[in-house]
Order: sequence, then structure tokens, then C-alpha cells
Amino acid sequence: MLTPQEYLKKEGIKLEDFKKTALSKINKKNRELLDKLREHENKREGILNFYNILYSLVGDSWYYPERDLREKYLTTCKELLPPRGIVVDFGCGLGLDCTYFTLTREDLFVIGVDMSPVAARKAKSRAKRYGLKNIDTLVADFDHLPFQDESIDTGFSADSLFEYLFEVSEEYVLKRMGNVAKVLKKEGKLIIGKAGNPSEIIEYFGNSIGNYAKKIGMKEKFSTEFSYRSIEDGKPTKEYFTLVGLEKE
Ligand SMILES: C[S@@+](CC[C@H](N)C(=O)[O-])C[C@H]1O[C@@H](n2cnc3c(N)ncnc32)[C@H](O)[C@@H]1O
Repeated sequence: MLTPQEYLKKEGIKLEDFKKTALSKINKKNRELLDKLREHENKREGILNFYNILYSLVGDSWYYPERDLREKYLTTCKELLPPRGIVVDFGCGLGLDCTYFTLTREDLFVIGVDMSPVAARKAKSRAKRYGLKNIDTLVADFDHLPFQDESIDTGFSADSLFEYLFEVSEEYVLKRMGNVAKVLKKEGKLIIGKAGNPSEIIEYFGNSIGNYAKKIGMKEKFSTEFSYRSIEDGKPTKEYFTLVGLEKE
């Protein structure tokens, strides 16, 4: 069984200084463009164009400098995903997580969904490299999910349903979460991963993930926070990540 450590090594994911290595690959003009998109008055359009451009500029693994973080949550989530059924990775990005789940959990069929066609294409080729049959990747928006109501067993979402990069309103968060909840089966699970500790999440979004869940007919089953190592400006730093497990009532 491929361990997260082996997988991340194989995918070339290193613990590295995001600012010094990854960000330095984007020239000033593109940086300004990406910043402008973050301020775009139409959130959806801003987010879509931001990620299309970002993912076009970088390689398949560039977006993942935090090896330590991935190692920790891949280990936890692989165990937490219930047996059998369909798992959807909502906002799968370049597909690092959904490919690992598919590789290590043959009992699951995993679907990676992302609004960015560039992300979905790169996620597809990652899965193809491993010759996987129990995975698919789709271009789709949380606002128009291509699934029937109550058809998905488990959802997973890392830094996508909640993300700090764009100032989104409470209404925006609730609408996206509500759409995801609708396609989950009754008692279906949703695991949400978010950079930061629970109090940072409340400070930024105005509410905890569990409180948002209550408003859309889901209940919080667990919440766990862990620290991981990162490097910023050449110095090791300690960052936090929160995982919240929800269940549809
Ligand atoms: C911060 S990235 C995280 C990607 C991946 N889960 C990871 O952990 O590396 C957020 C992702 O969510 C996707 N996304 C944002 N809003 C979306 C929406 N409304 N519908 C579908 N995907 C969306 C973006 O295109 C982007 O790939």
C-alpha cells in the first residue's frame, strides 16, 4: 500500500519555501493580473480566471509546496472516508488528493470536480499516469453540480468550499455548501479541510464551519486541528489546518 510519504515523494512534492520557489516562477505582470482577479467584482468570474491563469503558469505539482501538511491530512482522510461508494473531491485543483484516495482505496469511485478546465485537465492526466480506472474528473461549478440530489456518498473538500484568497460573503459560502449538501445522500459525510485553526476560520468567515453546516441541514461529527511545518522567507514556521467532518441529517 502506497503511503502518503511515498506518494508525495513520487509526485515531487517537497517541503519548500513557497514565496522563494513557487511564487518566484510567476512574473510581475502575471502577479498583478492575479491580484486584480482576486478583487474582481464578479466573484465567480474572478475565481475562475484566477485559477485558470495560475494553473496554466505552473507545473502539475507546483501548487503543493506544503508536503508536511498533505502528508498529515492524506493519512487522516484516507481512514475517514467511509467504505465503498462514490466520493467527490469538491474543488479538486490539480488532483493530488483525489488521485491518492483512488490509489489507496479500491472500494471507492472518486470524482474530482473543479470549475477550472485547466485544473480538471491536469488532474485527469495525473490519474492517467497511474492507469486508474476508479476515478473521473469533471469541469463543474459548485453552483451547477452535475449530480442528482442525494446521489453521492461522501464529499471531500480541501481549501475550496472555504478559502481565504477571495473575500466571499456568508451568503456565498452558504449557497455553495447548500448545493454540495443537496447532492449528498442522507447520512452522507462531508470532510472539509481548511488552512488555519478554528478561531482563525471564525474570525475570517464570521462563523465556524460547524455553524454553517447547521444552517444547511448537516451536523458536525468531529473537528480536529493539527499543526504542520512550513517555510517562509527561509525560516521554518508552524502553520495550522482544521479538518471538520459533517453528516447530512
Ligand atoms: C485553493 S484551491 C484548492 C485545490 C485543492 N483542493 C487543493 O487542496 O490543492 C481551490 C480550488 O477550488 C476551485 N473552486 C473555487 N470555486 C469553485 C466553484 N464555485 N466550483 C468549483 N470549483 C471551485 C478552484 O478552481 C481551485 O482549484
